[in-house]
Amino acid sequence: MNYKIAVIPGDGIGPEVIAQTTRVLDEVGKKYGHTFDFTEVLAGGCAIDAVGECLPKETVDICRQSDAVLLGAVGGPKWDDMPGKERPEMALLGLRGQLGLFANLRPAMLFEELADACPLKPELVSGGLDIVVVRELTGGIYFGEKGIKETEKGTAAYDVEEYSEMEVRRIAKVAFDMAMKRGRKVTSVDKANVLESSRLWRRVVTEVSKDYPEVELNHFYVDNAAMQLVRGPKQFDVIVTSNIFGDILSDEASQVTGSIGMLPSASLATGNFGMYEPVHGSAPDIAGQDIANPMATILSAAMMLRYSFGLLEEADAIEAAVKKVLADGHRTADIAKDGEDVIGTARCGDLIVAAIQG
Ligand code: IPM
Ligand code: MG
Repeated sequence: MNYKIAVIPGDGIGPEVIAQTTRVLDEVGKKYGHTFDFTEVLAGGCAIDAVGECLPKETVDICRQSDAVLLGAVGGPKWDDMPGKERPEMALLGLRGQLGLFANLRPAMLFEELADACPLKPELVSGGLDIVVVRELTGGIYFGEKGIKETEKGTAAYDVEEYSEMEVRRIAKVAFDMAMKRGRKVTSVDKANVLESSRLWRRVVTEVSKDYPEVELNHFYVDNAAMQLVRGPKQFDVIVTSNIFGDILSDEASQVTGSIGMLPSASLATGNFGMYEPVHGSAPDIAGQDIANPMATILSAAMMLRYSFGLLEEADAIEAAVKKVLADGHRTADIAKDGEDVIGTARCGDLIVAAIQG
C-alpha cells in the first residue's frame, strides 16, 4: 500500500527527530512492501519566520489531503514575546481544531530497561506501568468562549469550560474501546464536586459505560487523581478526562514513568485520520547538536501505523526495534547513566534502522 503522510518538522529538535523517523518508516516500507509519501509542511515558529503566521492554510489543506500527520515539535524562546494568539503553540490548537482531532492518546509506560529512571520507589512500580491517558482535545476551556472585560475590580479575563453530551460521549467511547483491548478498567477524572461541566461529564461517562459491562469504571476528582498517580500508579489502566485536566495529568503520568523523552502520542479524528507527535517539546537548548532522543517520535510513527493504517505487525516491528536498541545498552544523553554508551540522534536512527532490518 501507499500512504500519504504530511510531515511537520517544526522547531527546535523537531527536524532532527523527524529526519530519523522518516528513515525508520522508509525501512519499514522496504521490509513490508509499503511506500510512504512524505510531504513536508510548515507550522510553528518556522512558519512565522517564513510566511508570517504559525499555521498557514496550505499546511492545513495538505494535512487534510493526507492519510496522517507526523509532527516534531513547535515553539521556542525566539517567539516567546509574541501575543498569545500568534504564538507557535497556536499552530497545535489550530491543527487539533481544524482537523477534528478530538481524542488524544498519551500512553505512559515504563520501559523495563529504564526502570531506574522512575522517580517512585521500586515497590510502587514493580512489574511495570502501562497507563493510557485519553484526553479530550477539541473542547473544554481550551476552545470555550474567552475574553477580556473591564469590571469594577479592574480588567478581568475569562475562559469558559463547556462540554456537550456529544463531546463527552465520543471521548468516553474511545476510552472504553481502548480499555476493552487492555486492562478493562476506565478511570474518569473530573471535578464534579464543584463544576457543573464535570457533573455532565460524569453522567454521560456513566451512561456510556452501560454499553461496556466488562469494563470496570471508577470516577476520581482531579486532585485525588493527581495524588493517586504518584501514590499507586499501578491502579490505573485507561484514564479519560477533559482537555485541561488531561494536559496536566498526562505530564504527571509521563514523568512518573521516568521516560518522558521516550513517550509517543496520537491525536485522532473520527475514522482513521490522526496526527502523531512525541510528548516532549522542541527543546531549543539542545537543538542542532545531534544529541536529542528520536525514540518518542519513532514510537509515534509506530502508533500511526497501528491506528491510522492498521499495520499492526509493522508497528510492533518498530517498537521491538526501539526496545532492542535499549536492551543492547545504547542510550541518548537524556536517558544515559554514568558508564553507559551515549549515542547521538543520527546514530540512534542508524541502530533502529539496523534492528528493523533484523
Ligand atoms: C500539550 C501542550 C499543549 C497543550 C500546548 C503547547 C498548547 O502542553 O500538548 O500537552 O496545552 O495542549
Ligand atoms: Mg501539555
